[in-house]
Amino acid sequence: MTTQARLDCLCLLILYLTTGYGQEGKFSGPLKPMTFSIFEGQEPSQIIFQFKADPPAVTFVLTGETDGIFQIQPDGLLYHNKALDRETRAVHKLQVSALDAHGNTVEGPVPITIEVKDINDNRPTFLQTNYQGSVRQNSRPGKPFMYVNATDLDDPATPNGQLIYQIIMQLPKINDVMYFQINNKTGAISLTAEGSRELDPIKNPFYKLVVSVEDMGGQNEHSFSDSTSVDITVQENIWKAPEPVEIEENSTNTHPIKITQVRWNDPGALYSLMDKEKLPKFPFSIDQEGDIYVTQPLDREEKDSYVFYAIAKDELGKPLAFPLKVQVKVKDINDNPPTCPSTVTVFEVQENEQIGSNIGTLTAHDIDEENTINSVLGYKIVDQIPKVPRDGLFLVQTYSGTFQLAGQSLKKQDTPQYNLTVEVSDKDFKTLCHVQINIIDINDQIPIFEKSDYGNLTLPEDTAVGSIILTIQATDADEPHTGSSKILYRIIQGDSDGRLEVETDLQTNAGYVKVKKPLDFETVAVHNIVFQAENPEPLVSGVQYNASSFASFRLIVTDVNETPQFSQQVFQAKVSEDVPKGTKVGNVTAKDPEGLDISYSLRGDKRGWLRIDPVTGEIFSVAPLDREAESLYRVEVVATEVGGSSLSSTANFHLALTDVNDNPPRLVKEYTGLFFCYPPKEPGSLIFEATDDDQQLLRGPHFTFSLGSESLQKDWEVSKINGTHASLSTKHTNFEEKVYHIPIRINDGGRPPLEGTVSLPVTFCTCVEERCFQPAERLPGIPTVGMAVGILLTTFLVIGIILAVVFIRMKRNKGQDNVERAQASEVEPLRN
Ligand SMILES: *[C@@H]1O[C@H](CO)[C@@H](O)[C@H](O)[C@H]1NC(C)=O
Ligand SMILES: *[C@@H]1O[C@H](CO)[C@@H](O)[C@H](O)[C@H]1NC(C)=O
Ligand SMILES: *[C@@H]1O[C@H](CO)[C@@H](O)[C@H](O)[C@H]1NC(C)=O
Ligand SMILES: *[C@@H]1O[C@H](CO)[C@@H](O)[C@H](O)[C@H]1NC(C)=O
Ligand SMILES: *[C@@H]1O[C@H](CO)[C@@H](O)[C@H](O)[C@H]1NC(C)=O
Ligand SMILES: *[C@@H]1O[C@H](CO)[C@@H](O)[C@H](O)[C@H]1NC(C)=O
Ligand SMILES: *[C@@H]1O[C@H](CO)[C@@H](O)[C@H](O)[C@H]1NC(C)=O
Ligand SMILES: *[C@@H]1O[C@H](CO)[C@@H](O)[C@H](O)[C@H]1NC(C)=O
Repeated sequence: MTTQARLDCLCLLILYLTTGYGQEGKFSGPLKPMTFSIFEGQEPSQIIFQFKADPPAVTFVLTGETDGIFQIQPDGLLYHNKALDRETRAVHKLQVSALDAHGNTVEGPVPITIEVKDINDNRPTFLQTNYQGSVRQNSRPGKPFMYVNATDLDDPATPNGQLIYQIIMQLPKINDVMYFQINNKTGAISLTAEGSRELDPIKNPFYKLVVSVEDMGGQNEHSFSDSTSVDITVQENIWKAPEPVEIEENSTNTHPIKITQVRWNDPGALYSLMDKEKLPKFPFSIDQEGDIYVTQPLDREEKDSYVFYAIAKDELGKPLAFPLKVQVKVKDINDNPPTCPSTVTVFEVQENEQIGSNIGTLTAHDIDEENTINSVLGYKIVDQIPKVPRDGLFLVQTYSGTFQLAGQSLKKQDTPQYNLTVEVSDKDFKTLCHVQINIIDINDQIPIFEKSDYGNLTLPEDTAVGSIILTIQATDADEPHTGSSKILYRIIQGDSDGRLEVETDLQTNAGYVKVKKPLDFETVAVHNIVFQAENPEPLVSGVQYNASSFASFRLIVTDVNETPQFSQQVFQAKVSEDVPKGTKVGNVTAKDPEGLDISYSLRGDKRGWLRIDPVTGEIFSVAPLDREAESLYRVEVVATEVGGSSLSSTANFHLALTDVNDNPPRLVKEYTGLFFCYPPKEPGSLIFEATDDDQQLLRGPHFTFSLGSESLQKDWEVSKINGTHASLSTKHTNFEEKVYHIPIRINDGGRPPLEGTVSLPVTFCTCVEERCFQPAERLPGIPTVGMAVGILLTTFLVIGIILAVVFIRMKRNKGQDNVERAQASEVEPLRN
């Protein structure tokens, strides 16, 4: 115990005693079971308690585990005469008895318990001054591989007995990295993550640690400490990934077969395999020795390598270390025959292909491993069908499979196809592949005309366009229906105007010569035509078209008397409608192909407006023209040959007339119903509309309106509403019941302006329901209102008389019919 610690204890004790001693109940009192806590290591002769004697008790005695330390005075003062030591006895069980004067026990023995409270008076001590340990390389970080252990006699329930371990030095220490760590409570030593990674017995197999232990949780400046040295040997880790394994595929040995192994550093590990590739079937297993097996034959062509992991776990199922990667490569054996690229491989070769030319390459496959002897293939032709004109027309290069032409005697016409059987072999297998070689025709035949001259043909010049006038024929010996045998006919001479064309029949190669544009005797009377027959495909070199591909033909065109020809079908002209009679308004021209003179005439001049000069074709007006009657005047012009067969032809002459302002404005209709009610109550107005027959501009006419006579201005007023409408208003109400005819001047504002005066009839009449009741002029045969009423009354009278007669008769016959009597009385008044 240090001096300081002792002082502390003393002070505590003094405090304990001075604050309580003398106070009734706490430090003195009657005898009863009591417990006292006293720090160990205090000065001796310390008073614990003063028991008070209760008569007849006069003295006290102490028994129990006094160890010669605890004493009681007869007057009841309990004390200890030596320092206590918790580590010797932590609890003293004492008994105190009270005696009377005769020494008889009157009370007790009463248990008095003394608990010795710990003070940190013991230093922690390592059980060994030096520890030896060993650790496997790559051990899991944090997994203890050894312990150091220190003891401290102080109460482990108090900080005095709580020990903290610490590594204070690691030798060697490279780059200040700690490879080891200690559990500060248990003293368990393990590797750090770095240590797990980097420790390597080959680099350095020995490490020395200095480990300290401190009591009081290492937190107190009064804590004691001890240290020890720890020697650690790093051992090679035998938990190592095995070397990659090679397994020959398609093995016939009995399975499973051991292929490799893993070992945990210590016995008792539980091994398992993990398939990270998630294979549908996993053909490996591991036993509890760590031996790894393949469980069935492998197939390299299915999967050529495997990667999986071996795991070691402790009995609780916790991994002991990192999983180990196991790599398996499947070794090829030649267990697959070569395969042909397809059931039949087709090559094509032209008839005129040169000897030695490459025709094509047969590439067979072998799924055994590439670039090994197992997949090296050799090619050999074993059969040729047909052997015409001889066998051995083709060669194949043994390792490349390239075919070459060995003989130059191919003729499509004779043998269009050869079938070859090719043996393809690898180290152990042979496969037969089929190659078909198609011979392709080449354009080495020219078209040959059946005859070189198609003679003379005479045709009238009016032969219809589209007529077939001649069939020509050439033949080509190349393969039918190809560009080498199809024939195109061209006219290479005698038809510079392109009046003829030749169409080829695709089936027969016949050429139909047709008229494409009208023949014309006057232009070309004799065509000396040369046809050429060609193939659309070019000829192979060395072959040329010769004279047999050409043919001649003479076309003689005869003259036909043709109608005169107008230069246009429609002639158009435009004149103003007010041109004077005799003005030339247009002309037409026609020519006769045979050069005859032409006489012109008109047809359809229904208004008799025009005349045509029979010789010149000039057209003149012979009457005033009127745009308002015909804005576009259409007539036919006829051209007739003079002499010859008097053939004629017609064309149209359209004369457009342009407008002049030659129509005065007028009312748009005959206004008969304009009226004012009589007598007028106030001035009123009426609307009317004007129009003009001349051509109007887009925005319509712009008329101005005025009264036709100044004297009317006191009664009437005309005011314009817009370009076409105006209103006529009365200025007062003083008019008679009659019809007024108001003259109104309307000006069209044209150039020159034209003015018309119209008369607008306005009636003042008696109105019935705002309608004019017009007694005015009575037309003969139409009855007046009075007459109409008279006629109506007369009619009723006659009907009444007839009814009355009928009634009287019925009354006489039947006597009493009330209904009929009532009817009769209704009719009665009419009778008067
Ligand atoms: C340390 O030693 C003590 C006394 O020998 C023992 O009771 C304790 O279990 C040991 N601790 C360890 C972790 O070995
Ligand atoms: C003891 O270790 C624990 C965790 O390992 C840590 O939290 C604690 O602070 C350490 N105590 C001392 C005194 O170093
Ligand atoms: C194994 O080899 C034999 C011939 O050696 C072959 O017929 C068989 O197809 C092969 N099996 C596989 C899975 O490759
Ligand atoms: C070549 O083989 C094909 C079938 O693949 C057959 O149709 C053809 O007739 C054969 N040709 C010859 C010339 O034998
Ligand atoms: C075709 O006409 C020419 C002259 O127009 C004449 O020389 C030739 O003999 C005629 N040919 C035939 C085959 O009539
Ligand atoms: C044109 O060539 C063919 C062969 O291609 C031959 O048969 C024919 O006689 C030749 N004609 C002429 C006019 O030379
Ligand atoms: C009439 O013909 C002559 C040519 O002869 C031409 O210049 C003129 O424009 C023609 N006149 C009309 C109105 O067609
Ligand atoms: C002119 O006025 C009349 C009467 O108001 C109307 O009916 C007509 O549509 C107008 N015309 C124009 C072009 O505005």
